[in-house]
Amino acid sequence: MTLSPQWLEELRSRTTLSTLIGRTVKVQKAGREFKACCPFHNEKTPSFTINDEKGFYHCFGCGAHGDAISWMTEQRGLGFMDAVKDLAVEAQMEVPAPDPQAAKRQEARATLHDVMAAAQDWFVTQFNGIEGAQAREYLKNRGIAENTIREFGFGFAPNSRGKLKDALSGHGIDLLIEGGLLIKVEDKDPYDRFRGRLMIPIRDPRGRVIAFGGRILGDGEPKYLNSPDTPLFDKGRTLYNLDKASPASRQTGRILVVEGYMDAIALAQAGFEDVVAPLGTALTEHQIERIWKMVEAPILCFDGDNAGQKAAMRAALRALPILRPSHSLNFISLPTGQDPDDLIRSDGPQAFAALIAKPQMLGDKIWQVEYEAEPLNSPEAKAGLKKRVSDHISDIGNQDIAQHYRQDFQERYQATFFARRDNQQQGQRFQPGNRNFKSKFVSYRPTDDTKSFLIEGYDLQIAKGILGGLIRHPSQISKHFEELSIAKLADSQLQLLLSELIDCAMGKETLDMQALLTILEQTDCYNVAKGLLRADALNFTFNRKLPEDASSDLIERAHQDLAEAIKVVTARPGLEAALAEATRRVQDDLTEESYAEQQRLREAKQEFHERLVELTQLDDIA
Ligand code: UTP
Ligand code: MN
Repeated sequence: MTLSPQWLEELRSRTTLSTLIGRTVKVQKAGREFKACCPFHNEKTPSFTINDEKGFYHCFGCGAHGDAISWMTEQRGLGFMDAVKDLAVEAQMEVPAPDPQAAKRQEARATLHDVMAAAQDWFVTQFNGIEGAQAREYLKNRGIAENTIREFGFGFAPNSRGKLKDALSGHGIDLLIEGGLLIKVEDKDPYDRFRGRLMIPIRDPRGRVIAFGGRILGDGEPKYLNSPDTPLFDKGRTLYNLDKASPASRQTGRILVVEGYMDAIALAQAGFEDVVAPLGTALTEHQIERIWKMVEAPILCFDGDNAGQKAAMRAALRALPILRPSHSLNFISLPTGQDPDDLIRSDGPQAFAALIAKPQMLGDKIWQVEYEAEPLNSPEAKAGLKKRVSDHISDIGNQDIAQHYRQDFQERYQATFFARRDNQQQGQRFQPGNRNFKSKFVSYRPTDDTKSFLIEGYDLQIAKGILGGLIRHPSQISKHFEELSIAKLADSQLQLLLSELIDCAMGKETLDMQALLTILEQTDCYNVAKGLLRADALNFTFNRKLPEDASSDLIERAHQDLAEAIKVVTARPGLEAALAEATRRVQDDLTEESYAEQQRLREAKQEFHERLVELTQLDDIA
């Protein structure tokens, strides 16, 4: 049997190398690549890198180099055919059987890409021709610009049962049917699937057209007609616009997930290029995993109406079993009845930017949905809320995460129902005391007997931003020695970098970024450091490259924000501990005093979160 180069290429492109290697070796994300301690030689610091896009691994220590197949043969010790078979099962590909017929089919599959490319060209030609006038007019009315039309490859399928068939018949009718371009019913003549529709090509991560979505012009059913699943196209594994969003997300450290193609296109046109959409179905686990390869907490955008909120909850619940440390989903709800495309057209890109600046976290979303699910006017209803929420928690696969959610929901439950009783009985509300955020935090610094404290979870993202900021502004490291040196980052690479930074700055009054990077180049942290400068996880002022002639105000602002971010992150562990303690007291002995203390801490926690969000908003500095 011969495996064609095209077939093997397809197998490689459907295999995510870091996931495959991650089963045997512990891998860590490092910028756009993954790192691990090399499994081919003995080492303590990782010099083995995995590049998913290019599909190969390389060890800078021992020179080991290869792709998914050589990983299976050389590291796992399988024979070539066994390696290919194993990989094919996961990639949901059929290994061509050793008969000529199957070999032919396989050949055809490879050329299916050519057929789709030819169809795409043909649709574009129709779009630009006489018959395409209505489609061009339609896009113009929707405010889609000329170069967006070109970039996204809009086309047009004329209203005919045979034009595409005639134009592409050279590729063979069977192939056109297999590619989903023609419909064949029983023994009738096959005919064009897409008729009288605006055509939107759907591409794979490498930018090859694998399917189409066709929108009706004007009213009619169905509004969108998609290609059926074909050997190239698997709806549940495909994300629209991934080919463009993936590089864009490296600049922004963000991925937006919207519900429709036109939303993705409208957002990209408005400057939000890091956007993907599923294809008319709810997000699948596979799609969530794929998105997590790019960023740890994508922002899912849903309509604020009932249907949209149901869809949001469906996505939230689907993520629970597969949650893993640092990985989550964030949510925004659009104004009722508006999708992102509508919002941008009515209120402009800033309106959308404001929404995504304050996303709701996964736990908030679940709590909110269950809290609003029914009136909580009886003990049974209240217990019902508790049960629904705790059922969701039991779906969480990772036990550490589940434990944190359990604690968090318990606090909410307690606070919610005690708060009501309090209000009714005493007719007075707890008055928040000092609303000055900064002074509040100072008092939750770890006490002297706490030598160090752990920074983990979401705060690790902030910590990345801070480390990036310290590299850009090395003069600030020594100003925060005290806090920085007792922080423990729950990520060994980041912790190593932090220690190096402190060492570098020790005793040096004037240290600039170049000098710092030169020192770091001699250490194992260099790549991590460069990664933090390249793709900042968060858009703090201090993560941005400032112009040469930046005003002293601008620099001062960055320094202040950096100081505050450090203060906020290092205050969190103390605050969490104080809150846990206060909650225990409320449970043991509910008094006005213990309740007020718990509320005060909950508010502090909320303000803390809001302050971080504010710090990431850059709009007021040009
Ligand atoms: P919507 O009905 O919200 O459409 O469907 P939309 O994206 O706002 O489209 P416009 O603005 O009216 O052009 C959202 C997504 O659901 C899928 C498509 O993927 C669409 O983008 N869908 C919708 C279908 O697959 N078929 C349909 O008939 C309708
Ligand atoms: Mn729309």
